[in-house]
Amino acid sequence: MYFITPPTKMLGLDISDLSIKAVQIEKTKLKAWGDYSLPRGIVEEGMIKDFERTAEAIKKILTDSKRKFTTNYAVLSLPETKSFIKMIEIPNKKGNLGEIIKYELPKHVPVDLDEVELDWQEIKSNGRKRKFLIGIIPEEVANDYIKVSRMAGLEPVVLEIEAQSIVRSIMDCKTDSSTNFFKKLFLKDKKEIVKKEIHGPKIILDLGATRTSLIMIEYGIIQFTVSLSDISGEDITKGISEKMNLTLKEAEKIKIICGNSPKKCKGCVRNIIKECIERLAEKIKNMEKFYESHFGSSVRETEIILCGGGANLAGISNDLKKLTNRNIRLANPLVNISNNANDESIKKFMPYTTAIGLALRRII
Ligand SMILES: Nc1ncnc2c1ncn2[C@@H]1O[C@H](COP(=O)(O)OP(=O)(O)OP(=O)(O)O)[C@@H](O)[C@H]1O
Ligand SMILES: [Mg+2]
Repeated sequence: MYFITPPTKMLGLDISDLSIKAVQIEKTKLKAWGDYSLPRGIVEEGMIKDFERTAEAIKKILTDSKRKFTTNYAVLSLPETKSFIKMIEIPNKKGNLGEIIKYELPKHVPVDLDEVELDWQEIKSNGRKRKFLIGIIPEEVANDYIKVSRMAGLEPVVLEIEAQSIVRSIMDCKTDSSTNFFKKLFLKDKKEIVKKEIHGPKIILDLGATRTSLIMIEYGIIQFTVSLSDISGEDITKGISEKMNLTLKEAEKIKIICGNSPKKCKGCVRNIIKECIERLAEKIKNMEKFYESHFGSSVRETEIILCGGGANLAGISNDLKKLTNRNIRLANPLVNISNNANDESIKKFMPYTTAIGLALRRII
């Protein structure tokens, strides 16, 4: 997927089951963006079922955008469920990096190199060893994403794991725009440029329409991820629709208006949301337990960061805070973008978290 000379302009394209979003960033400013709601069945669990309609939707975003997209090169994310990441350390030897990684990777994970596409990001290196975060993507899925973007007139340049884009989007790396967030962590004089806050354990929650992703990070590096298809924005909407005998469209509106407030809608919406948040809190605790026992880290001071459209659900932070006893904060997907961010724009771009992270690849 790597070009000898990578294109200087690239847009981020986030294809989800119920929506597609595109963002172009130029010189750390938002240049163009747009989204399209997909009907059910076009993309299912990250697999493209209807190529024509997915391609049409992408084209529509690009042509309808008020501010024009000025590149056909695209960075795409692969669904969490269809890909995984692995940290590996390899000897620092001369030669073609791609070939070296392909040679070393099977020593770390049982992977058939003929069936996967790889993406990598260097995390650390010293004289003898180099450390890489490797994204491993089944080739079949990768080919489908490449095919559909080409049908829409785009040229895919990079495919990456969604968790990488999310971290790039919301972790602040303004302190030094010439190096990326990961590399900065390992520069010699860490204290000078790395904010303390990025070292501690964090769980990023991407609250999407069809699933919730949990990304465990420490030292600013993704440790592991979990994807939950039984906790989602759609589940809440469906629950409201059934309980209150409303269409899905009406239920979606009610969800946004009432949020988690016990006072609004006679607390009916809250009860449905509460049950969902309780399950989420339970999953967070399990994730922490797993991290503590398998990685030997303390999770007492884990910070939880919310992103994705579901983070806009009114009152969600307070409830999660009570149930998990952790500090909760809303992500700012505009943190690495120099447009002036305020609460309103952060809310507006919360569903664009992944697309923004993709568009920032090679920029930060
Ligand atoms: N103000 C709000 N209150 C409650 N829920 C909201 C609000 N705004 C957006 N959402 C919910 O966020 C969800 C969409 O979020 P997002 O755009 O991040 O999902 P997606 O990326 O399309 O889906 P996925 O990541 O699951 O594939 C929807 O379920 C929507 O109802
Ligand atoms: Mg999403």
